[in-house]
Amino acid sequence: MAGITIIGTGHYVPGKPVSNSALAKVMDTSDEWIRQRTGIEQRYYVAEGEGVSDLAAEASRLACADANIDPKEIDYIVFATMTPEFVFPGSGGLLGAKLGIPRVPALDIRQQCAAMPFALQVANGLVLSDQAKTVLIVGADAHAGFMPWEDWDVLSGESDRAVRPEAFEKGTRHRGLAVLFGDGAAAMVMRKGEGEKGFIGAQVHTDGRMYDRIFIPSGGFRSRPYFTPEMFEREEHIPRMQGRDLFKTAVTELSRVVTQLCEKHGVTFEDVDWFVAHQANDRINNAVRQQLKLPPEKVPSNIARFGNTSAATVGILTDELRRDGKMKEGDLVCFLALGSGLNWGAALMQL
Ligand code: UT7
Repeated sequence: MAGITIIGTGHYVPGKPVSNSALAKVMDTSDEWIRQRTGIEQRYYVAEGEGVSDLAAEASRLACADANIDPKEIDYIVFATMTPEFVFPGSGGLLGAKLGIPRVPALDIRQQCAAMPFALQVANGLVLSDQAKTVLIVGADAHAGFMPWEDWDVLSGESDRAVRPEAFEKGTRHRGLAVLFGDGAAAMVMRKGEGEKGFIGAQVHTDGRMYDRIFIPSGGFRSRPYFTPEMFEREEHIPRMQGRDLFKTAVTELSRVVTQLCEKHGVTFEDVDWFVAHQANDRINNAVRQQLKLPPEKVPSNIARFGNTSAATVGILTDELRRDGKMKEGDLVCFLALGSGLNWGAALMQL
């Protein structure tokens, strides 16, 4: 039975790019370190007051235009973000309202950087069980709110004043994390494919024993109240990340899940045209590529221009490949991602 396929994609990033050298003004880091260890050259940040549903609305309009549909044809939204506008409700409903489709169900999923294989699996289930016909999948994240610096004017180049030494030290304490992330949104319009085309299968995993590999320690409901000034002073609104451990887990688990998924569906790596991987670090994807002996041209990268946009990376990369005319109808695509939770997985789709 044919599963869902992509009928339109779009992406949006806010503001102007912020270079690695700009980050070196607010913390002890360097363009060389960031490029060599991650492959990142620049990223974007939302403006104060701008939220993920704003970014998502821009990306969704582009995706609907690409699919040649009116947003009113969407009958289900699956919205993935780890940086919603509010603790509750989720941002999916805000997006529906902005697109002029209130009352359309919006499911908010919390798989962080690993969102896309999960979102595709859910959307496929909704369509094949006749619960929906046209599903809008969105991944959007706005990390600016947890960045460790206050000197946004220095970062943007509006001011060339020196930052306070304490602020510089604070940035440096969190530099391993802070240099990685950038803001953005991606949207994909999904419908049932024709004939044999469409979603083939997904394999996804969650292991809560590793929740502390990357998480935000405070602002949760074990505490009364759920946020206190002391938490902020302890800088617990900024994620804690065990970078090296995550790196190794990502390489091992992503290689394993892709191998198992392809085996299960009788697909060889030669059959696959594109391995669209989450963009957390070029070195992670290169290691997976080497482990699976994949040719570099099948594992595209755009992390240099966007950084890690969490739930948006896979969709932004897919949109770029489609718009460049590289990813075409009939191509076999393997999507793969790992993120906080830990969550990880892969999905296979014949476009
Ligand atoms: O989206 C999913 C979640 N995130 C990930 O998947 C991230 C996975 N992990 C990684 O990408 C890498 O572990 C990082 C990029 C975070 C770090 O790279 P690394 O090669 O594992 O470096 P490290 O943490 O082992 O640090 C090496 C050195 C340290 O200095 P010493 O102790 O060797 O003197 C760090 O203090 O690099 C230093 N360092 C930095 N230097 C300049 C760490 N961050 C920075 C920085 N700028 N931003």
